[in-house]
Amino acid sequence: MTQLSWGRRYLMCPPEHFGVLYEINPWMHKEVAVDRDRALSQWESLVAALRAAGADVELQEPHPDVPDLVFTANAGIVNDRQFVPSRFKHPERQGETPFDIEWFEAHGYEVDELPLGVSHEGAGDALPFGSVLVSGYRFRSDAASHAYLSKITGAAVRSVELVDERLYHLDLTFCPLDERRAIIAPMGWDAYGRKVMEALVAEPLVLDDDEALAFCANSVVVGTNIVMPSCPRRVGRQLEAWGFSVATCDVSEFLKAGGGCRCLTLALDVSLG
Ligand code: ARG
Repeated sequence: MTQLSWGRRYLMCPPEHFGVLYEINPWMHKEVAVDRDRALSQWESLVAALRAAGADVELQEPHPDVPDLVFTANAGIVNDRQFVPSRFKHPERQGETPFDIEWFEAHGYEVDELPLGVSHEGAGDALPFGSVLVSGYRFRSDAASHAYLSKITGAAVRSVELVDERLYHLDLTFCPLDERRAIIAPMGWDAYGRKVMEALVAEPLVLDDDEALAFCANSVVVGTNIVMPSCPRRVGRQLEAWGFSVATCDVSEFLKAGGGCRCLTLALDVSLG
């Protein structure tokens, strides 16, 4: 088994200003209050779990008025020292982008932007697997963004249409584990997308609908360690049989906004070469 070449360095943002202040996915309900202290302790436990798994965590400063900034996966696409900021679909999140660009510029990245009017929500909708970048489209990212992404980064992009609005980002349906294996939730893909992924992933761990809706695919892989928002016994047994160690991290406050462990992280050590 060849471990993933990325996933040992992450950008995260403390949930100081996190909350459900608007509704842009079916999980978000403004009337459900977020317990901010609980969110903070869950987030700190996630940082601790990632560090224990062997990852380095870098921090982005939180800002008021952009409660979803905690979901750093959506900041953009990282490719070596290149950063392609997201173009958010919903105006509610568009205010995050200047802060994301600021962080990456301050850390020496070259910032290359997608054209105006084309939406793409970063690593939430694009994950490297083997020699390609798998990217989802429909709810948040436009299909048209994929060709631009490919042109800007040089990556070969494999497009997958998302069909279930509860699984509105690719990272709720797909979690690369190593060069051959991935956790997948085909319920989130159209028939052609299932074919594409079937051809791409030699050894899939296929989630059933309940497992997918519990965000099992929204996990963070650090070498052979996996940090998951939840892990049914069946899934854990398969992962362990493959040589992975599983830790679960309660991120229930963030699930209120439709995000899990992976959404709270952005891998910084990705090279799409
Ligand atoms: N409330 C956020 C949104 O709807 C959650 C983002 C989840 N991020 C992810 N990578 N799946 O945009």
